[in-house]
Amino acid sequence: MSSSGPYIVKVASYKGGVGKTTLSVNLAVALQLMGAKTLLIDSDTISPSVGFHLGFEGSNIGYSQLLSSRGNIRDVTSVHAPSGLHVITGSIGSKHAVLTAAAEGRIMKMLKKSPYEFVVVDTRPEIDSVGSLKKTDETLVVATPDMPSASAAIKIAASLDRQRLRHSLVLNRVKNKKYEMSLHEVEDLYEGRVGAVIPEDEIVPISIEERIPAYILDRRGPFSSSIHRNAKFYYSGHGLTEDSGGYYGGTGIFARLKRLFLWRRG
Ligand SMILES: Nc1ncnc2c1ncn2[C@@H]1O[C@H](COP(=O)(O)OP(=O)(O)OP(=O)(O)O)[C@@H](O)[C@H]1O
Ligand SMILES: [Mg+2]
Repeated sequence: MSSSGPYIVKVASYKGGVGKTTLSVNLAVALQLMGAKTLLIDSDTISPSVGFHLGFEGSNIGYSQLLSSRGNIRDVTSVHAPSGLHVITGSIGSKHAVLTAAAEGRIMKMLKKSPYEFVVVDTRPEIDSVGSLKKTDETLVVATPDMPSASAAIKIAASLDRQRLRHSLVLNRVKNKKYEMSLHEVEDLYEGRVGAVIPEDEIVPISIEERIPAYILDRRGPFSSSIHRNAKFYYSGHGLTEDSGGYYGGTGIFARLKRLFLWRRG
């Protein structure tokens, strides 16, 4: 564990529905079950959905209260009994869902002093998620292996590079079909290593239906095995892969987009 408090990871994408919440929930559950005290925060103030994976959808305390009040983290934290994971859920319909600079400073200070080893922050789909914490230790940029998603991911990468914030790419819903972009093609556009590849697995929609995280529901399946491998890397050294170490300092959005448009044209 770092002496300066927990390692804070934000999960982001410019496109909706690529698997941010699925990754956030299952990575956090896996870290907790490996023995690392972990806090999961749902910072999607418009359409929070962490609760659907965990069976918390009735919860009315959470992130919005943290933004609007002077309350501390403990007051708005729920415990997911099957895993012991601590969770700050989102609550729909709050009037106070805007993250001011002052609130962000206050929350970051509390998080850095908290007893957790890891904090995983789920966000809503935006290039710089308005309601979510900006200066996290790392951003996991989630994309699916197709052009629209990859192009959205490189926009986030360029934005994070400009802010000199560390990021890694997670490729989700990989089916290994011919029409998908290959790992190499995605890495070339992203100008960094793909930190994690997560397969398409029907246990994910089943787990949402059952309100039991996929990592618990089918611990040995392809999805959970991939989550486990990646959580283990984090657990053993704070970084998504042993050697990627995140990335910043790319050539910028235009060079990346140019390569995207030349993609497969030879
Ligand atoms: N690896 C996977 N295998 C199969 N289905 C998946 C996988 N990852 C995500 N899904 C499915 O994709 C859908 C969207 O996932 P999720 O809600 O995690 O995306 P999101 O990026 O958080 O969406 P939003 O931008 O709306 O917050 C869900 O219905 C989920 O079941
Ligand atoms: Mg989501």
